[in-house]
Amino acid sequence: MRGYFVSFEGPDGAGKSTVLKEVLNQIGSELKTQYLVTREPGGSKIAEKIRDIILDPANDKMDNKTEALLYAASRSQHVEEIIRPALKEGKVVFSDRYVDSSLAYQGAGRDLGIQEVKQINDFATDKLNPDLTFFLDLDPEVGLKRIEKLRPGQEDRLEQENLAFHKKVYAGFLKVKETYPERFVTVDATQPIDQVVAQVIATLKQRMPELF
Ligand code: TYD
Repeated sequence: MRGYFVSFEGPDGAGKSTVLKEVLNQIGSELKTQYLVTREPGGSKIAEKIRDIILDPANDKMDNKTEALLYAASRSQHVEEIIRPALKEGKVVFSDRYVDSSLAYQGAGRDLGIQEVKQINDFATDKLNPDLTFFLDLDPEVGLKRIEKLRPGQEDRLEQENLAFHKKVYAGFLKVKETYPERFVTVDATQPIDQVVAQVIATLKQRMPELF
């Protein structure tokens, strides 16, 4: 059986990590193939070190292109060391964020251009794209409020950006989503978590019946 690559995207505070964890809690033992859960930025030892540099609030002088290249560098390592080998072994890979985050945050949020950021990511990943992407759809203002409430004073460098930035990121996600309609599935992330989880599981069963 071939591997299958699923990514989770959305604005900060949409609940990706919680949803992903709960989805695997519920269906992990049902899956016919082995699976791997990973995240970006990070996912491997070197990639996690790059993550620390990117997200450190002390690095407030980081140039936008430096930021985009560091995300891409971290991703390149993650893809070569973790994702590709797992897919080759026929595993299902679930990633908390992937290239679409760079297109939205660096391409749109930082105004570097979605196409430009796509190019460096095509280079970094040798054009490895997810088979399926869940977009957890949430108004960025609501997302930031959730984070403030959940972990006050602990926002990372990107989360600390103002609402205008996060609105641009959100608009970027919508554009990216329109560009790849066959791969994106939008889930309303204002719903209670168990409904979000149920919708994700139903979609996985419908799109990847061979895995159940
Ligand atoms: P996130 O997954 O939200 O980390 P956590 O849930 O642990 O706080 O990712 C951290 C931040 O990095 C988030 O604000 C989104 C941002 N990001 C980018 O700007 N570009 C990228 O390519 C990726 C993967 C993340």
